[in-house]
Amino acid sequence: MSDRFAALQREHLGNLQRFYDKTLETLGYDGVMIYSGSPALHFGDDQHASFCSYGHFQHWTGQATLAHSWLFIQPGQRPVCYFHAPDDFWHLPPRLPDQAWTTQLEVVTTREVVPPVPKAGRLAVVGDVGEAIAQRLGAECNPSALLAALDEGRVRKSDFEVACMGEANRMALRGHRAAREAFLAGGSELDLQLAYLQASRQRESELPYGNIIGIGRHAAVLHYQHYAADEPTSRHSLLVDAGCRHRGYCADITRTWPGPDATSLFTDLIAGMHALQQRLAAAVAPGVDFVDLHEEMHRLLGALLVESGLVRGSVEAAIEAGITRAFCPHGLGHLIGVQVHDVAGRTAADGSPLPPPPQHPALRLTRELEPGMAVTIEPGLYLIPMLLSPLESGPAGRLVDWGLVDHLAPHGGIRIEDNIVVTPDSARNLTAEIE
Ligand code: GLY
Ligand code: MN
Ligand code: MN
Repeated sequence: MSDRFAALQREHLGNLQRFYDKTLETLGYDGVMIYSGSPALHFGDDQHASFCSYGHFQHWTGQATLAHSWLFIQPGQRPVCYFHAPDDFWHLPPRLPDQAWTTQLEVVTTREVVPPVPKAGRLAVVGDVGEAIAQRLGAECNPSALLAALDEGRVRKSDFEVACMGEANRMALRGHRAAREAFLAGGSELDLQLAYLQASRQRESELPYGNIIGIGRHAAVLHYQHYAADEPTSRHSLLVDAGCRHRGYCADITRTWPGPDATSLFTDLIAGMHALQQRLAAAVAPGVDFVDLHEEMHRLLGALLVESGLVRGSVEAAIEAGITRAFCPHGLGHLIGVQVHDVAGRTAADGSPLPPPPQHPALRLTRELEPGMAVTIEPGLYLIPMLLSPLESGPAGRLVDWGLVDHLAPHGGIRIEDNIVVTPDSARNLTAEIE
């Protein structure tokens, strides 16, 4: 076996099995079936949508696009993977990869789409299945207590998972470099996307999320989803928020660059945001409350807005008036793993909900940081007309320099995002240590 992650993956699977054994026993289940899922058909058509396997299936196998497959986990037993490889002359059936999980688990290759019916007492089934499948299996369908416990089991990453995310970061950064070079050469957003995919060695349907490649004003659209094919007529800025997967595990990296038409104020703001982002990244450590860190982002952003002349008055007044929230309406970051926005960010370890503060509804992570958590740190500063315009006519209007807002608007915005793992006494920045 040429799998350089083999020893780490075996250790990961051993820990995972102990965790499942304990969880199933605690909740009184004799087994759980985990479905990988299957791609949807376009309505009235014979073409499938692109597909991503269920997170709990990936947690065991790292297989991000394996459809119609199942895992059967029973306490104290070797887990079984029913690996779907149909006889098919239209498509190439999936083949088992040269990876440690294929020997650690018992793998049964199956041509059937219908699930095997395991013999077990009290059984649960989790995944994108309906009641009909659950009844056929004689299983409880997606029981909430079990799902919450399994989600919690994904929060603290093993060494294997961290190594996979490190590799995903390495490949994503190759893509980022290629996209920037294509921008400097005058390429369109589509050219940049194609350069990114080529350099990071992935097809578009395998990305962990749709890459965000915004030139100029498009950088102000948080999840900008198009790739303009025409060469840009002005090049004030480039924002690339783009990722990669390695064995299911995601990278989620953002870089913002000034273009040849950038003004010095915008270039200075990028430098200010970079320093701010590094400060927040350096603050990641066990015991830090992520809501507090998010609020610190607003204080630092307020200070940058005042220092640059965009906002007049005190930082406190800018926060109080909602000005920093209009410039940055998203959260500081989120958990990351086999899902880019990983599970359990707003649920405490005991299962109780931790909703975001009412003034920060978009914050996806509201927990205290613990060793093993992998998070993104991604502060932003944007010129979003639909958020800034309403301020102009209200009491906050006199605190903003609207001339500078107009001056900056063609640059769209800035986001800088790294992926960070909390260690027992501080943190590792997986992105910065490769870059
Ligand atoms: N790429 C989406 C995000 O940063 O959360
Ligand atoms: Mn992110
Ligand atoms: Mn991102």
